[in-house]
Amino acid sequence: MILSVNVDHVATLRQARLGSDPDPAAAAILAILGGADGITIHLREDRRHINDRDLDLMRRLLTVPLNLEMAATDEMIEKAVSTRPEMVTLVPEKRQELTTEGGLDVMANGQRLKDAVTQLHKAGIEVSLFVNPSPEDIEISNIIGADRVEIHTGTYANASTALMARQELENITTAVQKAVELGLTINAGHGLHYHNVKAIAGIRSISGLYIGHGIMSRAVLVGMEQAVRQMKNLIFEARQT
Ligand code: PXP
Repeated sequence: MILSVNVDHVATLRQARLGSDPDPAAAAILAILGGADGITIHLREDRRHINDRDLDLMRRLLTVPLNLEMAATDEMIEKAVSTRPEMVTLVPEKRQELTTEGGLDVMANGQRLKDAVTQLHKAGIEVSLFVNPSPEDIEISNIIGADRVEIHTGTYANASTALMARQELENITTAVQKAVELGLTINAGHGLHYHNVKAIAGIRSISGLYIGHGIMSRAVLVGMEQAVRQMKNLIFEARQT
């Protein structure tokens, strides 16, 4: 299983003073030293954290695959085609949200997503769709032509009771099963922290975890390399049992 580390929050800290520190590209290098198998950044329409310079720089600098999260807009597709990250994860984007709030509405946006996937494929970029753990949405993602799905784990992570967490884990397991049947590569992410990652990491058919806030929060206190290494160890342990 791979761990792709999202460094958006480092850019958020930089933007607090509109200066050049701390640099998310430097954070990405330290995350790689800690064992990150990939780096993820979300280029938002309003450039509230990651900006075009970060994307261009990390595209040239990184020695691990870069996953670009973005909305399926003409501007972003153009940006991805010109910078060619290894992978694009298409996500819904609302201006007012603090973070991505849920999976894509693949039914309502099917044609737009299909066109985006086609254009990104033409540029040789793998495409993942960020979806809720719903077998129907996974079937539609397959019809749209996605290579991968990233299953939204936010509802599991934010469950207020153990029972709700268990039920959502079942939904995730059912969705994973559907994606396996369809031959899609399966990622998962959102809201994963050190205390809740193992149940998701233990689902064998998931091949990649995409984690930002949990690792960045710990990195502030213990350092980036150490924070990534601790998360990698938990993922490794989950696969040993
Ligand atoms: N996956 C997707 C599609 C996201 O939008 C985000 C947040 O940027 C993440 C994973 C990481 O979520 P978190 O920061 O809660 O770990």
